[in-house]
Amino acid sequence: MSTQNASMPKRSGMNNASKLKIGLFGANCSSGRAVTMVEERWSGSWPDCLRLAQMADEAGIDFMLPIGRWKGYGGDTDYQGETLETITWAAGLLAKTKRLVAFGTVHAPLIHPVVAAKAMVTADQIGEGRFGLNLVCGWNEGEFEMFGVAQRDHETRYDYAQEWLDAVKMMWSRADEFDFAGQFLKLKRVRAKPKPYGGTLPYVMNAGASPTGQSFAIRNCDGLFISAKLQALHEAAENVRRVRRLAGEHGRALDIFTAGVITCRPSRKEAEEYDRHTLTEHADWAAVDNILALKDITQAQHGAEAFQEIRRKQAYGMGGVRLIGTPDEIARDLAAICEAGITGIGFSFVNYLDELPYFCAEVIPRLERLGLRAKRSVS
Ligand SMILES: Cc1cc2nc3c(=O)[nH]c(=O)nc-3n(C[C@H](O)[C@H](O)[C@H](O)COP(=O)(O)O)c2cc1C
Repeated sequence: MSTQNASMPKRSGMNNASKLKIGLFGANCSSGRAVTMVEERWSGSWPDCLRLAQMADEAGIDFMLPIGRWKGYGGDTDYQGETLETITWAAGLLAKTKRLVAFGTVHAPLIHPVVAAKAMVTADQIGEGRFGLNLVCGWNEGEFEMFGVAQRDHETRYDYAQEWLDAVKMMWSRADEFDFAGQFLKLKRVRAKPKPYGGTLPYVMNAGASPTGQSFAIRNCDGLFISAKLQALHEAAENVRRVRRLAGEHGRALDIFTAGVITCRPSRKEAEEYDRHTLTEHADWAAVDNILALKDITQAQHGAEAFQEIRRKQAYGMGGVRLIGTPDEIARDLAAICEAGITGIGFSFVNYLDELPYFCAEVIPRLERLGLRAKRSVS
């Protein structure tokens, strides 16, 4: 039962003229996505998030995507131990910015859809149509325990998410009072006013990696995150074509995003040295091992060498494409990602506020010259 209303007008935010959308991922969490002990690691504090969003907004960055996290991972830094709740965070950022889309990352099984729908509408009203939803089903058992909620098996998780999103979209679009009688949700005489801003629906994305997760996104979402490796972009391109073909069979168009980590410096040597310093020599390995244990990833399953590689990947940003180098190299890599058919990338830095100005000054103009970014109109 999909309630996607194709007749509702699309909003401009994520549908702007830039061929490659760029966004900042993970800034609402302490340490962001870099599992590092270096002193300049990201605070995740509200003043830093606000300064970052305003800087990003001025520079024409398209979106800010938070991580829905309720419990940190311990280790020497209590990695992601401090996190700002994402809808509230988005609402605050939307009040203080003009252009960018701020997402909330919402755990369907943990947040009641009536509460979530209204909180998201409130953020969307504040942002005059710039709120977006990243719907997640969750995976971290400890977080579910904390809510006293049992984690459903993988397939049922997405069945529940389907009902949750159907109910939310009905609350966002139906003028009348309605009952919702699903397998999991039984909602009586639902009234939901006001609606999202301007008679449009918020942009909805999902990052399901399994066939079930991807099929959920194809049926319900505007955007889907897929994984990509720079060394194997042909595989990502094939994946993009496959997902788009499936979406087409459902009469739907889907934007495809990937997540990444950027270390951009004037020379490749500097970029590599900083990368090694922060994410190898000073990684918070105790936190890395806690994350892997939570995901049930062990050396016994993978063998010593592959396991070390998994640990390294986990340290540099919980996975995702890794872009290291000069502005020319980063622009070239981003162009290759776009060439693979990917609509946009949500990336992180070790310290977003320190590193974003150089990226904006050096990489964005190169992307503009390559025709991947529309020149920013100053309002
Ligand atoms: C870019 C990206 C962002 C994600 N954000 C979150 C998040 O904030 N919270 C969370 O619990 N899971 C998050 N996930 C996990 C996904 O929602 C999803 O559960 C995971 O990719 C496994 O896919 P599956 O559910 O289809 O098995 C994220 C994944 C990606 C790739």
